[in-house]
Amino acid sequence: MTESTEDLSFFDIVGNVRAMRRLKPDPVPMNVMWKVLNAGVQAPSGQNTQPWKFVLVGAADRKKWFADRYAAAFESRFGLKTNPAERGKYRTNGQLGALYHQMDHLHEAPYLLLVCGERDWPFKVAQEDRVGLAPPNYGAVYPCVQNILLACRSLGLGAALTTMHQVFEEELHEYFDIPQDFGVVVTIPIGYPMGRFGPVTRTPAADKTYLDRWGAS
Ligand SMILES: Cc1cc2nc3c(=O)[nH]c(=O)nc-3n(C[C@H](O)[C@H](O)[C@H](O)COP(=O)(O)O)c2cc1C
Repeated sequence: MTESTEDLSFFDIVGNVRAMRRLKPDPVPMNVMWKVLNAGVQAPSGQNTQPWKFVLVGAADRKKWFADRYAAAFESRFGLKTNPAERGKYRTNGQLGALYHQMDHLHEAPYLLLVCGERDWPFKVAQEDRVGLAPPNYGAVYPCVQNILLACRSLGLGAALTTMHQVFEEELHEYFDIPQDFGVVVTIPIGYPMGRFGPVTRTPAADKTYLDRWGAS
């Protein structure tokens, strides 16, 4: 049974848009995915350049290709399979356990969404320092990413922002025919969640805010 939460207020949604890493393989209708993607493209961007492009991956072989490389990247970073102590830790720790599950089941998510961003040097990088490929314009793409996460939550879909693909981004470009003037900013597995949504755990704004100058509360 899929939870529909479209009647939740914005403040309900924003307060419990947790990273959902355990997803059911149940299909997600394409009209629902269009709602998600159309929410993404409502985001603001500098001079309204809208420098995002999506690759929505639903083909089983393409998801498997990605999941295998994601797991290898994860393994090279955390050594789960080769280090039993680490593996045990992942089983007993909530968030790490979820990360571990995500790694093993990534290819089962109905969709992997690659959010790509046009490469663009930040203003502060001097002309003479602009060597090689510019990074994607992260700042211009993240509002779009957050809209996507909020839309997923609103529609009862689980989603989690991931960045581990950076480890194999060159291969990713080649496999998915992504041109070099775009970088892959995030990969978001999307599907109906196995567990329940719940509130995020964050430090209150009052503990993160100074009045008029840094340090004054
Ligand atoms: C820039 C950025 C990079 C992230 N990279 C990953 C990632 O590679 N894998 C992952 O599972 N989650 C990733 N996350 C999600 C965070 O781990 C998650 O939002 C955070 O731990 C808080 O958990 P919650 O959203 O469930 O409350 C990333 C989030 C951001 C903003």
